[in-house]
This record gives sequence, C-alpha cells and structure tokens, in this order.
Amino acid sequence: MKKSLVTDGDWTTVAKARDVAAEAGERIATARRDFLKLFGYGAAGLAMGGLSVDKDGSPRFMAEAAAMPAPYSPYANAFQFADQLLYMNIGTTGSSPTRVIKDFADDYKDIARNPTAYFFGQQEMRNSIAPGFGCDPYELVLSFNTTDGLWRIVMGIPFEAGDEIITTNMEEDAGISAVDILVDRFGVIKKTVDLPTNDAYSDREVLKRFKAQLTNKTKAVLFSSPIYLTGARLPAKKLCLGAARRGILSIVDGAHLPGMCAVNLHDMGCDFFSGSGHKWQCGPGQTGFLYIRNGYDPDYRIVERPTGDFAPFGAPSPTVEIGIPGYTNTAPLPTYYPTNTLIYGAAGILKNGERDPEHNIAAVLQLIGNGSRPSQQALTECCQLWDTWGREEIEDYVVALAQYLRSRIVEIWGPQSLSVPFDGESYPVPEVSRTGLTSFNPFSISRTRPGRPYHDYNADLTERQAEAQSGASSAAVATLRDDYQIVIRNNSVPHSLRSDPSKNATLGTFSSPLRVSTHLFHSTSDVDRLIEALLEVVPPLAPPL
Ligand SMILES: Cc1ncc(COP(=O)(O)O)c(C=O)c1O
Repeated sequence: MKKSLVTDGDWTTVAKARDVAAEAGERIATARRDFLKLFGYGAAGLAMGGLSVDKDGSPRFMAEAAAMPAPYSPYANAFQFADQLLYMNIGTTGSSPTRVIKDFADDYKDIARNPTAYFFGQQEMRNSIAPGFGCDPYELVLSFNTTDGLWRIVMGIPFEAGDEIITTNMEEDAGISAVDILVDRFGVIKKTVDLPTNDAYSDREVLKRFKAQLTNKTKAVLFSSPIYLTGARLPAKKLCLGAARRGILSIVDGAHLPGMCAVNLHDMGCDFFSGSGHKWQCGPGQTGFLYIRNGYDPDYRIVERPTGDFAPFGAPSPTVEIGIPGYTNTAPLPTYYPTNTLIYGAAGILKNGERDPEHNIAAVLQLIGNGSRPSQQALTECCQLWDTWGREEIEDYVVALAQYLRSRIVEIWGPQSLSVPFDGESYPVPEVSRTGLTSFNPFSISRTRPGRPYHDYNADLTERQAEAQSGASSAAVATLRDDYQIVIRNNSVPHSLRSDPSKNATLGTFSSPLRVSTHLFHSTSDVDRLIEALLEVVPPLAPPL
C-alpha cells in the first residue's frame, strides 16, 4: 500500500484515525466481553464490572472495572488514577490495576504476619507468563527492571579486548552504561549507529547504517526498540536475524515492549532481551523481564515443565505442559555466565558458561537470594490479566490511539513535527509506528523551504536555539502538569539534520521534543483533552526564539 506523509490540515485522516481507534476500542471491549462470558459472568458482569485473575490463575470478579461505552476505554475504570489526572508518561513508569494493588497489599500483610524466607516459588509464575511472551519458562527470569537485566546480560557474555559492539546514539542510560563499562573494563570497541528521524527515517536506512558498522570483529549488537527518545520501533527481527546469520549476538533493550505490544521473543530472534515490568506491563516498581535464548529448534512443540523450583536439580515436582513456539534464530547457543546466583554450577547448569537447551537456566539466574514475593506475584497477575484480555487486541488499541494522536498532531503542527514519518493510510500500521510512544516537536521551526515556515523535527539548531528550546519544552511539560493535570515528558534528542540528513545533531544542539504515552486505559477523548491543552500551551508556529 502507498505510504505517504499527509499534508497539513487533512481532516479525512483525523476522522479515519478516530474511526480506526473506535474500532480497535470495540475489539478490546469485545475481547473483554468474551473473557467475561468465557467464565460465565454474563450480563451482570458486563454491566457491573470486570474480572481479575486470581493467584492460581482462576478468574476473580473485579467490581471496579465498569464496562464503558466508546469513546472511553473499556479498561479506564480498572485503574485508579487521581481525580482529573491525565497520566501520559507510562514510558517512564506505569500504574497497576486496582485489583493487583489490593492483592499486593494483602500478600505483603500475610508475609508480615507470618514472616518467611522467600527464595522460591517463581517457577510457577514463570510457567504462567512465559507463553504470553512467546518463550520457554526455562529462559525467562523475573528481574528487577530493564537496567538490571541489561547488566546481567552484558556482564555474563565473555567479551574480550578488541571485540566490537554496535549500538545506537539513542540508547537510554541503562544501555549506554552497560556498553561503556565493557569499553572501560574489557577493552571492547564501541561502534555507534546514528538513528534517522522524521522523513530521514526508513527501516532500510536503519539497516544500512547498522551494516556500515560491521567488521569481522563485531561480537554483538545492542539496541533498544522502541527507542525511548523518538518512540520508533526498529526492525528488531531483521536486525537480530541479520546478526545471527553473521555469528553476532543480539541484545535488545525492550524496556517498553512488555504490556504495550504482543511480544513473541522466539519470533523476534534475539539472543538476549531485557524489558520493564513496571512500565507498560503496569507491575510494581523494580520488576522486569530478562530473556536468554535457550534453544534453536525452529518447530513448535509441547514440553513438560516442573511446577517447583527444585525440579531441575533432581527433586521430584509435578509438571505442566507448555507450548513452545519455534525459534527463528537457529544459531548455536552462546557461552554465557550467571553474574549473580546462589547456585553456580548446580546440576552443571551454566557451569563454565556451557549451554544446553535442556537446562533450566532461568531457575539458576532467578535464585539470587531473598526476593519480594508480593512484587513478583503482582507482576505475574498483571501478565495474566494482559494474556486473558488479549495482548494483540491491546497492541492494536494502543497503536490505533497513538495514530489518532499523531493524526491530530499532523493536522495542527504538520507532518514534519513528528519523530518518524506519519503514515495514516496503511493498515496494519508500519512497524516503526506500532508503539504507544509519540514524539513530536512543536518548538522547532524550519525557514529553509520557500513559502511559510513550518514545524520541523529535523530543523538544525544553534546552541542558543537548542538551549531556548529546551527551556520552552520543559516549561510546557511543567505547565501541562501544574495547570492542566496532564503528565507527559520531554527528551533531549540528537535528531537528523535538515541541512544534511545523513548526520545527526551533536551535543549542545540537540532538540527537545515532547513525548506522549498512550495506553489501554486512555481513549480518544483523553487525546482530545491533551490536544486542547497543548493548543493553549504550545500554539502552532510560536517558536521560543
Ligand atoms: C529504552 C529504555 N531502557 C531502559 C530503561 C530503564 O528502565 P528500567 O527502569 O526498567 O530499568 C528505560 C527507562 O525509561 C528506557 O526507556
């Protein structure tokens, strides 16, 4: 289908985007209704509320979640934001469903009443959530957060002096720090891909820039997707499989993917993945997912997995059957050492970095001393909710809502205000835009084109302009929060340069766009409220200089 940038003031696109969002809203409402019906709650459940999933995976009535007609999200009332607050910064951290908060509190009280060491119990949790991420429970660890997972990955791979790692200029601090310590400590060489923005962006351009950094010393690629600065979802599968073909390891910082998108890790083909539990998956703080590919069989199969944590070490345990999707990455398993565990070498698992698809490596990596059962249980419950609500329906809704937001931004600030090209025509929406993160810059202006000036994400900035823009952008975020009770954030972005799109802005001349997160509890009316506030706070073509 034709992919084009729409022109300013295209009302048809806005109307269409609103319709698509409404249809996606209907689909998640239907998925939720089917979920209610499946468990026999019928009309009463529909009228009065929704369901949560109990600790054992069985459904539980959730009175707070009233069924809401469009344009309200059918999930809005399953969450408990402060009155009038419009929270649109899930990219920093999320908010747990009401039921999960209650269960967390009950669990915490239980533990206080009957204190006990909490080393075990996660095997069952991992069994229940791994299928939702398209992987084996033997390769999914409940980590503390994305940062924790990334460090456990890079410090466990035996890098040597002279090895090269390719990363991007738009990694979050967690990824930057993880790569930088490899440089300082082991003499690894860092190669950086500058990522394109706005109309300089295309998947092909991204792949070309990665390829240009390859040498016969390349040991790994580390990139995030979506990119936290721009929201761009990179062609992760192509990057991972391209790396695998060349014997290169792939490490994905997927902080934003769990809970936002329907993730299938075996299909993505990465060797290592780290994601947040507390952002879009809406678990408690300090929760995350660490994935380490532990197989290479391309065929789907059913396997038996123990329900008890000791099972891999010989103690008998009942088992459950779990369907495991085939791997797209069929390369041999790389050497990997645990960085922290109570049981190094037990049953020979990961002993001297050795790998075997039969090994329950996640059990070894999970066992790092006393943990927080309430947190891990609450995260598990969030995952079970998402699985039963339907991860694909949630992704569709999140993307449709983001596209509606983008269509409104395009209508007011123009297509070149957005971080990536806006395509309001194609369905399914192109991968780069299949995210709930929207970055746009109503502060940058280009006067390089004949005719009237226009907002331009890629406008070149002088240091003075960049500083003024940063001030204006931060002031807008503060005003939205203080005067309108709308929470979004801004970023400092090394955008592509209009004067030379093959280059990105250098430190001191970065731009300061706004970043908005839209999630399953938002609706088109929330997007409209944001746009109305933005129109007062950041009128079109009102630059800071
Ligand atoms: C791309 C990316 N990676 C890592 C992180 C850090 O996430 P966490 O708090 O889960 O460690 C963030 C947080 O904003 C992020 O955006």
